Amino acid sequence: MAAQKWRMEILKILTPFLEGMKEAGASVEVFYVKRLNIKPCTGEFYCWNREPGQCYIDDDMQSLYPLLRNTDILVLATPVYIPLPGEMQNFMNRFIPLMDPILKWQDGRTRARLRANARIKKVLLVSSSGWWEMGNFGTLLRIVDEFAKDLNIEFAGALLRPHANLMVENKEKAEKIFKAARQAGHQLVEKGRISQSLLKTICQPLVSEKKALSV
Ligand SMILES: Cc1cc2nc3c(=O)[nH]c(=O)nc-3n(C[C@H](O)[C@H](O)[C@H](O)COP(=O)(O)O)c2cc1C
Repeated sequence: MAAQKWRMEILKILTPFLEGMKEAGASVEVFYVKRLNIKPCTGEFYCWNREPGQCYIDDDMQSLYPLLRNTDILVLATPVYIPLPGEMQNFMNRFIPLMDPILKWQDGRTRARLRANARIKKVLLVSSSGWWEMGNFGTLLRIVDEFAKDLNIEFAGALLRPHANLMVENKEKAEKIFKAARQAGHQLVEKGRISQSLLKTICQPLVSEKKALSV
């Protein structure tokens, strides 16, 4: 699991989700990419051409690579920052050493895949945004979808929380949302998927669009 920790909104969804996963028996490891030293990929393709699977950049990714190779489920947690914070994008770009350099033509696109020694099967997105509308997540969803396709893994769902700051003043709905996030964690581990109804509960509007715009 990789989280981008700046403030707190996203943790309100992420924490119950991870607790649900743990309650269902998963072992969960959390790291905050913002707190780590993760440099940008330099695009040398050293990890493909010179020493397959090895990144030459000496930073905190070196200790994350073994963890990532042995993870079944990767949860990316990030707020929307037109479209996402740079630290999270750097982290995603540094997956290249875990990817096989054999590119395949698939549905009109050039795709890579994870190396055989990396076992991630699914990626999930947890995200919060400031503005009212769900459209704010569009670019981020596309980025994670492309990421999943390039690793040849399943994009298994997105827990999205628009106008996340309004959860404080809408306590009743917020409680239902936290409960749904916890159940989503259970479902992911127990059934391998999260129901659409839970995902809908998590992203439900807290106020009408009109009210949000009048603030
Ligand atoms: C640089 C920056 C860019 C942002 N861009 C957007 C945006 O495009 N759309 C949006 O809905 N919220 C945007 N936000 C608001 C955050 O997504 C929102 O406040 C989020 O809930 C923050 O989560 P956090 O408290 O966990 O950091 C932006 C915030 C910052 C600081």
